[in-house]
Amino acid sequence: MKLFGTSKVVDNKLQIGGIDSSELINKFGSPLYVMDEELIRDNCRRYIKAFAKNGNRVAYAGKAFINLYMCKLIKEEGLCLDVVSGGELFTAYKSGFPLENVYLHGNNKTPEEISMAIELGVGRFVTDNFYEIEKINEIAEELGKTQKILLRVTPGIEAHTHDYIKTGQVDSKFGFTLLEDEVFRAVEKCNQLDNLELVGFHCHIGSQIFDIEPFEDEVEIMINLMKEIENRFNITLKELDLGGGFGIYYTEEDEPREAEEFCERILQKAAEVCEDSKFSMPILTIEPGRSIVANAGTTLYTVGSIKEVPGIRKYVGVDGGMSDNIRTALYQAKYECAVANRMESDNKEKVTIAGKCCESGDILITDAIIPPVKSGDILATFTTGAYGYSMSNNYNRIPKPAVVMVKDKEAKIIVKKESFEDLIRNDL
Ligand code: LLP
Repeated sequence: MKLFGTSKVVDNKLQIGGIDSSELINKFGSPLYVMDEELIRDNCRRYIKAFAKNGNRVAYAGKAFINLYMCKLIKEEGLCLDVVSGGELFTAYKSGFPLENVYLHGNNKTPEEISMAIELGVGRFVTDNFYEIEKINEIAEELGKTQKILLRVTPGIEAHTHDYIKTGQVDSKFGFTLLEDEVFRAVEKCNQLDNLELVGFHCHIGSQIFDIEPFEDEVEIMINLMKEIENRFNITLKELDLGGGFGIYYTEEDEPREAEEFCERILQKAAEVCEDSKFSMPILTIEPGRSIVANAGTTLYTVGSIKEVPGIRKYVGVDGGMSDNIRTALYQAKYECAVANRMESDNKEKVTIAGKCCESGDILITDAIIPPVKSGDILATFTTGAYGYSMSNNYNRIPKPAVVMVKDKEAKIIVKKESFEDLIRNDL
C-alpha cells in the first residue's frame, strides 16, 4: 500500500491533510470522498513547470473530476480546461473560469451545446466529424462569430497500459482517420467555410499509459501530418493538442513515470521532428486528467455487514460501492485499501470489499490483505480521485457522498452530500 500527498499514518490511524479520517467521517458523514488539495496543486504546478514553456499549454481534463471548486483551483494554477459536454461547460462558466482557455470536446455535440459554447466564447472546439464542422459554421454564422477549431485526428495509435498498437485503431467513434484522405478533406471543408478558423489538430491515444514511446510516435505522426497540410494547402497550422492519458499508480502492479519525464520527452521529440521536417514548432497542449487528481483522492467508507463463506471468502460490506466508484465493476480496476482507524496490525486477513448495491458485481476490491476488520471500522480506498465522483450515479437511489477538500488541518465541503429529497427533486 502506498500513501500519497499529505496522507500519513499517525497513532496507527490514517490522516489526510492533517486531519484524522474518523474525524472527517464524524463531521461529514459516510461514505466520503476526501481530496488532498496540496497534492492536486502540486501536480498542476509540476505539469506547468515541465510543459508550459514557449506558449505550450496544459489543459486539465475535467472529466476526471469536475465541480465549481476544482474549476477555480485549475484557473488559479494557470491551466486550461478540457470539457466534454454542456454540463461540464456550464460548471466552468459558473465558476468564473476564463472560457477562452476552454477546449470543448465530444463526438456528438448537440446544436444546443454548440450554440452555448460559441455564445460563451469557448476558446477552441475540438471538432470530431464533418457533421459538426458544418453545424459549428452554421451556428457561428447565425451568431455573427468566427469559431476557432482544432480537428480531432485518430493517428492510428491505440495505447492502454503497456499494450499499444501502431496501426489499426481507425475503428473509433472519435475523430477523422488518416485513411482515404479523410483529414485532408476535412481541412479542405474548413477552408471553404467563413465562420470557422482552423488553428490545429487534436489527438488522444488512450488512458492510463505507462510507456512514452506511443506519445513519441503520436508526436511524429501528427507533426508530419501538419507538414503535409502545409505542402498541400499552403496553410501552417499553429497548434497541436496531444491529449492526455499519462499512467498513474493504483496498485503495486503499476510502475508509473514522473510527469516531468513524459513532458520532457514529448517536447524533445516535437523539437526533433520539427527540425527534421523543417516545420515551425507548433504550440503544444497536453490534457492530463487522472494524473492530476487520482492519487489525491481517498474514499472513506464505514464497514457494516461481514459475511464469511466458509473456506471460500470473507465479504466485508461497506456503505457505498459501484454508485460512488463504478471503475471496478466497469473495468475490473484494482485498488488498494486500508482500515483507516487501525492501519497496521501484526496479523492480516484476506477479504473482499463488497458494495451495497443490489448487484453481485458490486465488488470494490477482491482479495485485499488488511488487518482484521469489524463493523464500525473505517475502510479507506486509495487513488479514487479520478473518475470516481465524476462517474458516480444513483443506482438503487443511493445518494452521492459529499466531497471534502482537505488542506492544512482544514476540511471544506466542495460538493454537498445528496439527500433523499435531492433524489426525488425531478420526479413528478
Ligand atoms: N483528453 C481526451 C480527449 C480524453 O478523451 C481523455 C480521457 C483525457 C484527455 C484524459 O485522460 P487521462 O489523463 O485522465 O487518462 N473513465 C475511464 C477513463 C476514460 C478516459 C476518457 N478520456 C477510467 O475511469 O479509467
